[in-house]
Amino acid sequence: MKAIILSGGKGTRLRPLTYTGAKQLVPVANKPILWYGIESIVAAGITDIGIIISPETGEEVKAKTGDGDRFGAQITYILQDQPLGLAHAVKVAQPFLGDSPFVMYLGDNLVQSELDLFLDKFQANHLDALTLLCEVENPSAFGVAKVDAQGKVLQLIEKPSVPPSNLALVGVYLFSPAIHEAIAQIKPSARGELEITDAIQYLIDQQKNVDSFRLEGWWLDTGKKDDLLAANQIILDSCLDLTIEGEIDAPSKISGRAHIGSGSRILNSTIRGPVNIGKNCQIENCFIGPYTSIADESTLIDADIEHSVILKGAKVIGIHQRIVDSLVGERAQLKVAPQRPKALRFMIGDDSQIELI
Ligand code: G1P
Repeated sequence: MKAIILSGGKGTRLRPLTYTGAKQLVPVANKPILWYGIESIVAAGITDIGIIISPETGEEVKAKTGDGDRFGAQITYILQDQPLGLAHAVKVAQPFLGDSPFVMYLGDNLVQSELDLFLDKFQANHLDALTLLCEVENPSAFGVAKVDAQGKVLQLIEKPSVPPSNLALVGVYLFSPAIHEAIAQIKPSARGELEITDAIQYLIDQQKNVDSFRLEGWWLDTGKKDDLLAANQIILDSCLDLTIEGEIDAPSKISGRAHIGSGSRILNSTIRGPVNIGKNCQIENCFIGPYTSIADESTLIDADIEHSVILKGAKVIGIHQRIVDSLVGERAQLKVAPQRPKALRFMIGDDSQIELI
């Protein structure tokens, strides 16, 4: 069994962050989203992993993730030179996959359940494709499955305007090598992409062995700000290690679960967990509330914040109105003058959003 993780694409829904970086490297609880997928694949005993990268962000993904040693895996990077769809990515990966059955994992998806459950079903029933399905409120944003009373997949439709059910296709799939033949038969969709949904539909039409698995736990597609904040909340709730490596002065108060990385200094501040603070951060005269992740080398002085994600090297200074539900990019700076400000001065990247609510 091998695995491929798709880590290309343009990440348009997470702009402006994705103008300068891969969406799969945006951190959740201070760890790139992509790494959760790698860890879950390795935990299921699969160590031969291909990561599909794009020309725009591939080097960054490679540099950050490495050859797989840190995960106990062997990682092969595979360049998809144009974003021509998920099935196109499988085509590009075919030399790496050979005749092996494989897991395909979309690098911006996070799934709670362990992969073992799906692998067992796939292998025990000698399936050609196993799809994971999850009930959602907005099925039109996803691939959607029509299933019979036994849960057998009858039809799959990509982003239907009139969805046949509320069961969305999760971005984790298991395939036998039969998928390659199916991909060779399909044509690009209206959005110009070779859709994996259409390739699975081809397998169904050919009476191949296709089944589905209903996810009970959470699943998050982190492609948008609110989904990313939701993922941050869930990960901080479920798997935050309680290590305090940095320095905390006497007036500071820490309650709940908090991780504070080495070299970070917490001065005269209140931290109410779950909170994850990276390395070499300076936090002074702050309230850091639940569900906040602050990446390495950030500075927060005279600031109140909760339910937010701050990326590496950002600065937030002099803001005592509570900052909520916010995503602050790498090296971004938010400053309010100590005297009552008389004017607002901005330099904001394309597609940025500022809301004074
Ligand atoms: C892709 C698939 C879609 C699936 C979704 C899961 O959509 O095409 O069927 O439901 O991933 O994240 P995309 O992210 O390309 O819009």
